Amino acid sequence: MYVILLGPPGAGKGTQAVQTAERTGLLHLSTGDMFRENLRNGTELGNLAKTYMDQGELVPDDVTIRMLLERIGRDDARAGCLFDGFPRTVEQAKALDEALSEQGNEIAVTILIDVSNEEITRRLGGRVSCATCGSVFHEIFNPPNAGSPCCGTVKMIQRDDDKPEAIANRLQVYADQTEPLVDYYNQTGKLASVNGEQSSQAVGEDLLTALQAVSS
Ligand code: AP5
Repeated sequence: MYVILLGPPGAGKGTQAVQTAERTGLLHLSTGDMFRENLRNGTELGNLAKTYMDQGELVPDDVTIRMLLERIGRDDARAGCLFDGFPRTVEQAKALDEALSEQGNEIAVTILIDVSNEEITRRLGGRVSCATCGSVFHEIFNPPNAGSPCCGTVKMIQRDDDKPEAIANRLQVYADQTEPLVDYYNQTGKLASVNGEQSSQAVGEDLLTALQAVSS
């Protein structure tokens, strides 16, 4: 089953994708994580992506589509994937549809995690992640436990694109380039929506319900 998690930056796509992948066995594919991994490894792709990511701009479609299509062509993606942060433009969505259709597959459902801009600004401003394993926390909503710190380390880092100027641009880019995907998937009759302004656990339950509705 191929499933897309759609939503603005900070909606909780990554948080939910990790939990949902554990519960369903679907392979979690995040293009943001793939770019950050390339950056950590010092690849040409990582360095190119950084110039866009730091400004809150999208990495160009041709680069992103090539990377993602190569990834879903591997054996471990044959049984299905949970896409987090891809597609982000209509061009990316069309390329994904085409590639899946060539394999005799299709998107089962696109789930929009709906969150207001005010809440997003609060969430991204407080997001931190473990410097060792990358697990994501929030300084107030989901604080790293000081008593038994993640990976035994107290070192938490903030993403460069979680600075206020980059957050504002990411929200604008989402409205201009990614929000049109809501109509795109609505027209196929495969759009579901969950309220992202609930506890993380409640959002996760609603996501599972939406998945069960298409898998039964
Ligand atoms: P990417 O890494 O995909 O970032 P994003 O979409 O902006 O999403 P985020 O990771 O910021 O947020 P999220 O929705 O995953 O929320 P999270 O779970 O962390 O992309 C980064 C950049 O890479 C892009 O700007 C672009 O440059 C490039 N890129 C990536 N994909 C691309 C593509 N397809 N095309 C072109 N360029 C691409 O949660 C956020 C915070 O809220 C956390 O602190 C979390 O603990 C907290 N939180 C989560 N859920 C809740 C809840 N229910 N209640 C309270 N707090 C919560």
